[in-house]
Amino acid sequence: MAPRKLAAGNWKMNGTLAALDQIDQLVADQPAPGCDILICPPATLIQPMAARAQGRIAIGGQDCHASASGAHTGDIAAAQLRDAGASHVILGHSERRTDHGETDAEVQAKAVAAHAAGLIAVICLGETEAQRDAGQTLDVIASQLAGSVPEGASAANTVIAYEPVWAIGTGRTPTNDQIAEVHALIRDRLAARFADGADMALLYGGSVKPGNAAEIFAIAHVNGALVGGASLKAADFGPIVAAL
Ligand code: G3P
Repeated sequence: MAPRKLAAGNWKMNGTLAALDQIDQLVADQPAPGCDILICPPATLIQPMAARAQGRIAIGGQDCHASASGAHTGDIAAAQLRDAGASHVILGHSERRTDHGETDAEVQAKAVAAHAAGLIAVICLGETEAQRDAGQTLDVIASQLAGSVPEGASAANTVIAYEPVWAIGTGRTPTNDQIAEVHALIRDRLAARFADGADMALLYGGSVKPGNAAEIFAIAHVNGALVGGASLKAADFGPIVAAL
């Protein structure tokens, strides 16, 4: 089984109810997409977006707690995301790792909780610019992969997103060879560790736009994208979906 192709949008801390019009537009513009489509809006929009998407677009959270419930003010449990209509959850995004000090072990614990709740975990990995400049990229990615992905991962419940920190929101992207090198490493490590590791979907993220999507999607072991800024408007995200 080949990895499923996935065009995923991460709305981050953007969007109010008015933004749901973009979902209607995306569905209208992409009546028969050649890939799965996922939008991860702020938690406040998960339920209404799921209702508007009517199964045509998958909806995801942007984080979940590692515990099933309890005294964790401001956090959301994986089962609550599922209850609101989410099928996926982004975990270990570099903004979470930086802003909230999330470690690989915490990301792994969250992934275990997501899987237990029936969610697909979209686990993010990525090197900083300093790490790339120091020639540490492959070591950093291998270490994050080993530490963040739990033993129970499979092609059915896990997607890996390679997002170089320095490419996020900057308009800068790695060269095709740099993306290919990292994706090949991730594929090799997954295939060595998991029975169906060759079938897990691998996404690239970081300044993906309508103008560079097709070129990035042609790179070996790139099965889709995790898109930030260009996922907010159907007019931008639609062409990226169409390129996949
Ligand atoms: O999770 C997606 C993201 O971090 C990439 O953001 O705005 O560079 O597409 P952007």
